[in-house]
Amino acid sequence: MLKENLISKISKRAKEMQASPIRKLYPFAVQAKRRGITVYHLNIGQPDVPTPVQLLAGIKSFNETVLPYGPSDGLLELREEIAQYFKKFDVEVDPSEVFITTGGSEAVLFAFILVGDFGDEVLVPEPFYTNYQGFAQQVGITLRPIPTSVEDGFHLPNREVIKSLITPKTKAILLCSPNNPTGTIYEDNEFEEVISVVREFDLYLLVDEVYREFAFDGRKPSTLLRFKDIHDRLIVLDSISKRFSACGARIGFIVTKNTEALSAFMKMGQARLCPPTIEQWGAINGFKHIDEFIDDMIGEYERRRNVVFEELKKFPDIEARKPEGAFYTVVKLPVKNAEDFAVWLLKDFQHNGKTVMVAPAESFYLTPGKGVDEVRIAYVLEEDKLRDAIRILGKAVSVYNQRGK
Ligand SMILES: Cc1ncc(COP(=O)(O)O)c(C=O)c1O
Repeated sequence: MLKENLISKISKRAKEMQASPIRKLYPFAVQAKRRGITVYHLNIGQPDVPTPVQLLAGIKSFNETVLPYGPSDGLLELREEIAQYFKKFDVEVDPSEVFITTGGSEAVLFAFILVGDFGDEVLVPEPFYTNYQGFAQQVGITLRPIPTSVEDGFHLPNREVIKSLITPKTKAILLCSPNNPTGTIYEDNEFEEVISVVREFDLYLLVDEVYREFAFDGRKPSTLLRFKDIHDRLIVLDSISKRFSACGARIGFIVTKNTEALSAFMKMGQARLCPPTIEQWGAINGFKHIDEFIDDMIGEYERRRNVVFEELKKFPDIEARKPEGAFYTVVKLPVKNAEDFAVWLLKDFQHNGKTVMVAPAESFYLTPGKGVDEVRIAYVLEEDKLRDAIRILGKAVSVYNQRGK
């Protein structure tokens, strides 16, 4: 056994890193399941839609006798397929402008390393995908929130508000659209405002497009690469995790036309050697055959979004909006503390042997006190289960508020 006092020698950064708020309630869920309770998971963005057979076939086709390292920037065949895929969105991408990463997570990490030194700042609309904060802490940069609210559908404030948040340390603005956790898709005029700000202040624009295809109500999936005047400072972050229902493949990618950034990514990539080899063959096949499955997959999520919204509407004291994309929504509950409620759901509540697990939204925010009465719901369950789960959530809210009365 190590002496306990050695533990106090870990770095300040390591000590201060937040535990994943999405995963930290897991022990309570495990205990609930041990008590025989069915737990509907609305807390994590793990799609349950089957991984397309085309992708799995690509993985199974690997039959070499040695599983080798691949190129640090990824297999050329995959970079070519991705360049081809972008033609669907009317943008020209060269394979040399694509850099394959170990998941979208590594794409975020590399982008933060690229733009900021210790103490530098990146602006990001809050609430935001909470792991951004984990990566910022690892790298030693500070995230600063751009405020948005449920009342405004989590859309962006105007450019004057964004400008007022910029300091000499600000190096980039990070957007995510379609958004995790809110499901919001920004309009072109919002992007244009941000673009004018990054140009004026000479910043990078990082855009997380992991959920690109998850656009509902007839919206056309797109990419910020369509704004040519931003190509010098645009870094697109992406992943196959959600689009191919393949979170465990750990294949992500970065697209940029900035050659200095590309050579910096190459150096970061060389230090970690290469992204997973076999899964890249899966991704190649996934992109080759994407048109065979993507519409069905998105249709399924759109139906689920409708179910969630229909059911939530039945509980007037839950403040919810119909998200435009991705597969999440943030709702305001009539409770003082949503984390306490989320723990109670797992520890003390059940309805016909079932309960739900939700992600308290407070840690998707940086501003103290914001999001305390909100939770993120991920609609990654089949329709029937989803309907049941939302009904149970609604019932639970009233039981919770009646306690001790
Ligand atoms: C917005 C966003 N970016 C990045 C990621 C990371 O994706 P990956 O599984 O490819 O690491 C996620 C995963 O949930 C996400 O929601």
